[in-house]
Amino acid sequence: MAETDQIPAEYAAADHQTLTQRIALRKRELGNRLVILGHHYQRDEVFQFADFTGDSLKLSRQAAEQADAEFIVFCGVHFMAESAEILSAPHQRVCLPNLAAGCAMADMAEYADVAAALDELRAMTDAPIVPVAYVNSTAAIKALTGRAGGACCTSSNVRKVFDWALRPAPDGGAGGRKVFAVPDQHLARNTAAAMGYDEADLATYDPHQPGGGLSAEDVERATFVLWQGHCYVHQLFTRDDVERARQDEPEATIMVHPECPRAVVDAADRAGSTEQIRAAVGEAAPGSRWVIGTESNMVERLAREHPDQSIRVLSAGRATCVQMARIDLPHLLWTLDAIAAGEPIHVIRVADDVADDARTALQRMIAI
Ligand code: 13P
Ligand code: SF4
Repeated sequence: MAETDQIPAEYAAADHQTLTQRIALRKRELGNRLVILGHHYQRDEVFQFADFTGDSLKLSRQAAEQADAEFIVFCGVHFMAESAEILSAPHQRVCLPNLAAGCAMADMAEYADVAAALDELRAMTDAPIVPVAYVNSTAAIKALTGRAGGACCTSSNVRKVFDWALRPAPDGGAGGRKVFAVPDQHLARNTAAAMGYDEADLATYDPHQPGGGLSAEDVERATFVLWQGHCYVHQLFTRDDVERARQDEPEATIMVHPECPRAVVDAADRAGSTEQIRAAVGEAAPGSRWVIGTESNMVERLAREHPDQSIRVLSAGRATCVQMARIDLPHLLWTLDAIAAGEPIHVIRVADDVADDARTALQRMIAI
């Protein structure tokens, strides 16, 4: 697509002050026709322009509530903009300022591979398998999940969705005996552990091996089959980081995102989604100390918002999501200028049939 081509020099070469001034002017000019959404992991210079901020689900719901807004500019990554497009009204258009802002974890699960895996697993057991797609996945995988009787989940509600998947149908559940969790193995492993399951109840499906590297016995034994995907940002954090933080700041609460490996979550004091981390810090007393295992932009912003508390990121270096960082001021201004000119660029499109089935999976999650 031509619109994904190199950003024009006019934007790439503009200085910070020019970009911020021009974005502010465009926002004012577009008024209620435009709503800008900003995920917590966005850098501050972009985040300051967001009308609404939050986690991926909260932002998608907010997008759907802005009925006046003709254009939703989503400062986040591709799967989030797709969810907003699926949940928004037909007259709204969702733009992602840089279409190269994907999610490395979502990219680890290709539609054809997940569809084949579900068929293989179902052929290996008679027990009903309910797929659960973390929202960090493509619209096509959400649609497959919807068609196969499953639901989406976020890091805030994953436990409720797993409970629903395994609850008998007469009790309002999906009647599954097994959950196929895609694409984040860590989120699923940590949640299953919190529900009281141990490693023997889990099987990890490796998409690079025939049959996922699993035997029929492995599948029969497991309550959870985990797609072998991960987030490279959260996989940076280690149990050593947690132990070092405990030694250095014994009074600090160590809270990590459930996308971290199980050893990190087990060693930490608490685990929670980006909204849950923000809420925990927001409710804490002045003088509280936090060491937080999630993306650095968010942790550093929390530290600035709560100068009466001590807040730092768990790793020694920055933990940056490179994909999130692809949304920058030049791309934001380029997108707003195109909207103002009546020729929007970077518009997210999801085929109607895919959107319908993906909406089913998202709405099941919302209903749970
Ligand atoms: P949230 O939906 O909790 O904001 O997390 C999204 C994400 O990509 C975390 O890495
Ligand atoms: Fe994806 Fe990880 Fe970035 Fe979240 S932090 S958007 S899971 S790559």
